Amino acid sequence: MGVLNVGIVGTGIFAKESHLPAYQALPGSFEVVAAFNRTKSKAEAFAEDAGIAKDKVFDSLDEILADDSVSMIDALLPAQFNAQTVEKCIAARKPVILEKPIAATIAEAKKLVHLAESTSLPIAIAENWLFLKSGEALKEHLADIGPLVAFTYNSTGPFIKNNKYLATTWRQKPEHIGGFLSDGGVHQLALLTDVLGEVESLSAFTKQVRKESGTDDVAFSTVKLKEQGLIGTFTYGSAFGSCEKSVYFKIYGLNGAVTLDLSEKKKPIITKTVGDSAEANAETQTFLVDEHPSFGIQEEFLNFHEAVVKKEKRIAKGSPRVAFHHLAIVAALLESSAKNGANVTIEQP
Ligand SMILES: NC(=O)c1ccc[n+]([C@@H]2O[C@H](COP(=O)([O-])OP(=O)(O)OC[C@H]3O[C@@H](n4cnc5c(N)ncnc54)[C@H](OP(=O)(O)O)[C@@H]3O)[C@@H](O)[C@H]2O)c1
Repeated sequence: MGVLNVGIVGTGIFAKESHLPAYQALPGSFEVVAAFNRTKSKAEAFAEDAGIAKDKVFDSLDEILADDSVSMIDALLPAQFNAQTVEKCIAARKPVILEKPIAATIAEAKKLVHLAESTSLPIAIAENWLFLKSGEALKEHLADIGPLVAFTYNSTGPFIKNNKYLATTWRQKPEHIGGFLSDGGVHQLALLTDVLGEVESLSAFTKQVRKESGTDDVAFSTVKLKEQGLIGTFTYGSAFGSCEKSVYFKIYGLNGAVTLDLSEKKKPIITKTVGDSAEANAETQTFLVDEHPSFGIQEEFLNFHEAVVKKEKRIAKGSPRVAFHHLAIVAALLESSAKNGANVTIEQP
């Protein structure tokens, strides 16, 4: 369907370790042809790895946007730069995919949604958990256990002192609301809401456990969804002492239960028990999910590719409006906790 020439803006850890290999694995769809980074030496090293010509390492966002050989931008910056990057991409008529979370604040996220909805250009937030095979596999089992009643979403783990992401200065002094709660939390919320639908309201307590996190880093909440009157809990945090990493999404129905266990990202497991009561004596079935090693990133890129090539922005699944909802849930977690657990309705863009 045509190769898109990608200009990378922000050549940090994730650009190098995840986005570049994902593009290189899709040579019929993408070629990484240009780069810009605040610290130019890092862009030059990235260009060597990526096979980018020396004269395509630019000194500013304006310059990379002015280059006619660049057909789309992939921006991997701290979230507070996303809205201004979108504004410039629209002015330069370049489609853009930006890393999550959508923005640093709800006000900026609203601005970004409205900018994106004012143009025909495809603009997407790189929410790779929207593209997990695990999510699709989980959905396929829900009809067997319905009508659905409730869920438990848990993503907890130990604090990792030598976490390479923790060492980045913008994460240590986060301008994005919720710090790690929005940095990693939006992934979990993308999966949760993609499978069960949008959150209507919640009550939560959040807390800062580690000074290194710069702000609150754990959240415990009860949640009401918009559809089917579903209720559940959402628990998130990797700031605890030694404990096993535990990521599971359990959905309860009147006719059974299904659990996706993502504790080992490379080996997701789905278990399902079908029956209307204990007396059904149902056996628990186990299904292994053949999750893609890029953990949704290649699928996400191919989805954006299709939107750009077909000039149809609605094809892009990670729309700013969808990504707004995930950040808005984090904002509600924080607001509820600040109000001593009061129920908070999720903001709309
Ligand atoms: N989807 C996922 O699973 C996932 C995982 C990790 C990260 N991410 C996202 O990827 C993006 C990059 O994260 P990372 O982990 O790769 O961090 P990183 O290595 O610190 O990269 C951040 C990039 O932004 C640039 N930057 C930082 N502050 C800046 C400023 N004030 N002005 C201009 N540029 C600035 C940095 O430039 P310098 O080189 O000059 O510092 C660097 O290129 C973030 O949006 C993050 O949320 C996503």
